[in-house]
Amino acid sequence: MEYSAGTIDLSPQSDDLGSPCLNRHRPLLQVTVKKLALFIQTLVFYDMKKTVTKTGKTAALTYWVVINCKTILIKDEDSGYNKNLFCIPKHYEEDIERVFIPHGLILDRTERLARDIMQDMGSHHIVALCVLKGGYKFFADLLDHIKALNQNGDKSVPVTVDFVKIKSYCNDSPTEKISIVGEELSALNGKNVLVVEDIIETGRTMKALLSKLKDYEPKMIKVVSLLIKMTNRSPGYRPDYIGFEIPDKFVVGYALDYNEYFRDLNHICILKEKAKEKYKI
Ligand code: HPA
Ligand code: MG
Repeated sequence: MEYSAGTIDLSPQSDDLGSPCLNRHRPLLQVTVKKLALFIQTLVFYDMKKTVTKTGKTAALTYWVVINCKTILIKDEDSGYNKNLFCIPKHYEEDIERVFIPHGLILDRTERLARDIMQDMGSHHIVALCVLKGGYKFFADLLDHIKALNQNGDKSVPVTVDFVKIKSYCNDSPTEKISIVGEELSALNGKNVLVVEDIIETGRTMKALLSKLKDYEPKMIKVVSLLIKMTNRSPGYRPDYIGFEIPDKFVVGYALDYNEYFRDLNHICILKEKAKEKYKI
């Protein structure tokens, strides 16, 4: 796919033709749009902090536009917020380094994800499939927003729920073995299935789950993940909807855990190294 700033159509519309005022300003308008496109390009490349060739630039810009327009990108240098500015449960105060994504921001982003999902999937019965345990908070909040859209919109569809449980982490490292424990999922047959996940790192777990779900022949499968990590361990899997794209840091809170701790923390936070030792198994 090629990105081209020249795709902006400035050709006269039928009702423009007779307007001397608009015709007079058209050359100026064209120059302004070109300058604007160049300015945006410059900003984008400054942001990428990469030296690339001219052809590389086009490819890299395409990549940037496609990848980053649909998510909130949190960069490596964004370290979050001082934890003392937020309410943290007393029992975790010593363990948290920084608040990374405040709870309110998670909820606001989730509201918009619900709208995007309903636009794409909301014409047919949806089965929302929660990936436990880490996905349960995001799942509950996302479904509240979907219910609100169903309640207040011109059209609505039934939404039923199902759950699968996956364990792929021990301490802060992925385990070799992924275990998927689920109920009978025959209810997925012929439905629009929305898989709701907390975090995707390599996509290894999600790919294993998706291949299992396809056996039930759903009408459609879409994946929403609250977080996706930028890591060179990933072969490039990206879900259909992404809440936030985050750096390669271990995060907890909002149901994401470290050996089962920190699920009972509202904000997504970064742990202190000594907390990793404290809760290690
Ligand atoms: N936190 C919690 N669980 C996880 C993470 C993380 O950063 N990455 C993959 N599973
Ligand atoms: Mg998960």
